[in-house]
Amino acid sequence: MHWVLPVLLAVIGVTALLVVTPVSGYRPWPYLKPNSSNLMFGGSKKFEGSSEFIHMRYHMGPVLTANITIHPIWYGRWQKSQKKIIREFINSISAVDSKHPSVAGWWKTVQLYTDQTGANISRSVLLGEEKNDRFYSHGKSLTRLSIQSVIKSAVTSRTKPLPINPKSGLYLLLTSDDVYVEDFCGQVCGFHYFTFPSIVGYTLPYAWVGNSAKLCPGVCAYPFAVPQYMPGLKPLKSPNSDVGVDGMISVIGHEVAELATNPLVNAWYAGQDPVAPVEIADLCEGIYGTGGGGSYTGQLLNDKDGATYNMNGIRRRYLVQWVWNHIVFLAFVGFGRVGVDA
Ligand SMILES: *[C@@H]1O[C@H](CO)[C@@H](O)[C@H](O)[C@H]1NC(C)=O
Ligand SMILES: *[C@@H]1O[C@H](CO)[C@@H](O)[C@H](O)[C@H]1NC(C)=O
Ligand SMILES: *[C@@H]1O[C@H](CO)[C@@H](O)[C@H](O)[C@H]1NC(C)=O
Repeated sequence: MHWVLPVLLAVIGVTALLVVTPVSGYRPWPYLKPNSSNLMFGGSKKFEGSSEFIHMRYHMGPVLTANITIHPIWYGRWQKSQKKIIREFINSISAVDSKHPSVAGWWKTVQLYTDQTGANISRSVLLGEEKNDRFYSHGKSLTRLSIQSVIKSAVTSRTKPLPINPKSGLYLLLTSDDVYVEDFCGQVCGFHYFTFPSIVGYTLPYAWVGNSAKLCPGVCAYPFAVPQYMPGLKPLKSPNSDVGVDGMISVIGHEVAELATNPLVNAWYAGQDPVAPVEIADLCEGIYGTGGGGSYTGQLLNDKDGATYNMNGIRRRYLVQWVWNHIVFLAFVGFGRVGVDA
């Protein structure tokens, strides 16, 4: 039934603008009123998954099986050193020679997802052409809709437009620390969706991730910063000496994993509601190591300077949350696992 898909997409598109995806895992969101004594004293409450969440299902839509190319759009003011941390993370996804435990090992769990034909998610994730939007083309406060206009500007620019690649291109809008985006800090640190032909001219999978360093590091760069309302809890040292950007890395990993497995929001998700899908990274939000769950991050690694990380990339270390393995029903990265009380 060919007419169903466009109609459904239109309905999902309109409603998704009005509804914010619920967060099933852990971050110290203000509305959760986190309790610092729980966190400090090994509050290793396991993830409270319901069977509905754990039933990760394939809904017959496409996934990204061809070589994936990520096109960053740097919105606002970015330092060279910050771009480098993020670029090297993207390049690390397919860097199979990195020391174990590695970013490439983490991506192996994402590769376990397939489409109707049995083709796996691509192993190869490349950094594509980039675009700078240094002068805040759409202001310092963006909405979900104006984000699409920023992407439109990037793909239709008179000078060096980003290539249009609906089959395997991902457009990653990264906003600097002085930019507010709708729902940032209160409900989201990043999200992914696809562009509407009526705005951009094409259906392109995209994600937005914001630098929270000024607005809410205690939420979106947690555990490298802690919220003010959790006195006594000490932040962990970040691996690349940039709290905001190190915090973004885990959110970028989360969004890229979900874009690959659910680019048009009709492929891999759990739950009954396509408007509020629970996707493969949602199930492991806040889980970075063995034993993680609830408000406990799980066991992490420390480098000789005392910085905390859980995986190696090219020349650098990163802290990235785990993703859901639908075959063994566990949050998983190939070098550890955490059970779920179902
Ligand atoms: C925080 O959690 C601890 C241990 O679970 C509990 O004893 C304490 O009353 C809680 N504090 C608040 C403010 O809820
Ligand atoms: C492809 O997916 C199948 C099913 O999940 C899995 O058994 C297989 O190991 C995957 N192949 C690769 C290369 O990841
Ligand atoms: C995909 O990427 C690999 C290297 O990562 C390359 O060898 C291969 O030719 C690429 N395939 C296509 C169709 O571009």
